[in-house]
Amino acid sequence: MPVLDNLNVRAVTVVATVSVSAYFIYRKIVEPLHYFEQIGIPGPTPVAFLGNLPDLEEGIHLAHVALKEKYGKVFGLIIGRKPQIVVCDVNILQKILIENFNGFCNRRGFQLLPYDNLKYGVNTLRDREWRRVRSILMPAFTLESCEELAPIIAKSCNILLIKFLQASYTEQALNISSAMNQFATEITMVTLFGQPGKLQTSVNVRPDKLTIAINSIFRVPPMTSLLILAIPPLSSYLLKINSTGFRYLESVCYRAIRRKRERIAEKMECQRDLLQLMLEADRNGKLNDTDIASQSLTYLLTSYHPLKNGLCFLVYLIATHKEVQNRLIREIDENLPNRELPTQKEISKLVYLDAVIKETLRLYPATFIYHREAVEDCSINGFFFPKEVTIAIPVYAIHRDPEIWPNPSSFRPERFLSDDANSARHPCSYLPFGVGARACMATHFVTMIFKMMLVITLRSIKFKTVAETEVPLSTTSLASLQPMYDVYLGIERRVYVDSI
Ligand code: HEM
Repeated sequence: MPVLDNLNVRAVTVVATVSVSAYFIYRKIVEPLHYFEQIGIPGPTPVAFLGNLPDLEEGIHLAHVALKEKYGKVFGLIIGRKPQIVVCDVNILQKILIENFNGFCNRRGFQLLPYDNLKYGVNTLRDREWRRVRSILMPAFTLESCEELAPIIAKSCNILLIKFLQASYTEQALNISSAMNQFATEITMVTLFGQPGKLQTSVNVRPDKLTIAINSIFRVPPMTSLLILAIPPLSSYLLKINSTGFRYLESVCYRAIRRKRERIAEKMECQRDLLQLMLEADRNGKLNDTDIASQSLTYLLTSYHPLKNGLCFLVYLIATHKEVQNRLIREIDENLPNRELPTQKEISKLVYLDAVIKETLRLYPATFIYHREAVEDCSINGFFFPKEVTIAIPVYAIHRDPEIWPNPSSFRPERFLSDDANSARHPCSYLPFGVGARACMATHFVTMIFKMMLVITLRSIKFKTVAETEVPLSTTSLASLQPMYDVYLGIERRVYVDSI
């Protein structure tokens, strides 16, 4: 009898283990694959563990364009195991981003971020806490605040110009990606912490410690990315493995905040920079050092990549469209003939410059995707959006939609010159900085950097294509949309400059 009992116990254990495993496999692996069938949203068939990641192999931005053609303007993807609804329909986006903003005010959950300082950044915060921090910080990003930063931005633009002039003397192709990498790092540091421009000192120098640190944070090995997507709870641990870059940036931020607070306490004159503007915006002292460091790190990490890549695309497009470059130079020469630092008001009169920058960001929106999630289950125009499921806004696919932008792949700044065309455009058809209450805080600031860089450099040089320039440009979508390979351009002097 005891033998029988033993057998029964073993059989029950085996059956129970198999049943629990089968249930677990069904719930965790099989069921998520049918998620979109159940809620009636079309999309490509996912595979176990990877979901639709194989469908995104060619680049997320290009996949969005192709999937929109195949499945329509709303489709579902399973990213690893997480469902994501991709919305290319501008009328639905208008409801999500503008009309019913309160129902979709949060980005996707970043609860698994590896460092506390990233969890408290304004782009990650949710609900009330996001509103509180954003409203304190917003005065630091007005047009007037940008004007205060103009002199330090101009200084970095002048150093970039010297680099371009040096390249024009050697007549060698210049690695624009590397030049813009250092320029963007310097601009980020100088505008955030007022650090003197010394990062982009000469042609072909090795990347500085800061650039290495910022890049190391985004360099997650492919195997680690796959593990994070397949088993999200592991992300916090996996991302922490390579924490040297992040710790370095953290120490830079805290040092700068301490220095600034000391200078303020001793009533010493302070450099006008974003850190100063943030501290001034926080009139009632509601943000402590950790809050300010979180915002600084957020700016460092969210701004550097789109800035660097946006600048690369801009000069690439100008070099490959001679007629655009000539018209731009004519506008700058006619309106800003003297070489003094132009004011915001003077720059804002350059309508063609504005159109060139807008068209660059349409064709190559560095932030090619961003996200929201519904606060509650809801339906819009016949599509069901379940609570807390990620909603992706595929900026690149919207900017390349021929129904919205005729001949979408051609670079035509004229699209933005006509007031009639600008006012007739759907509010969600052009989204390089987002739209609505959660749009990019730094739109004025970024536009000013792009404009100053062009005004200051094009007064002395011209960009041109060389044998090493890849035409047409291939792109990839990593931390932001970027050229697949380094961009090389030639630099031609417009005027004789004897003082470099
Ligand atoms: C070419 C450069 C840039 C582009 C294309 C860009 C674009 C964007 C986009 C598309 C969003 C999401 C908007 C949304 O969810 O509705 C965003 C958010 C944000 N951007 Fe930018 N950005 C750039 C540079 C910067 C810079 C330089 C800073 C700071 C100094 C910055 C600060 C932020 C912040 C703080 C948010 C989050 C706002 C919030 O959640 O309330 N961005 N940006």
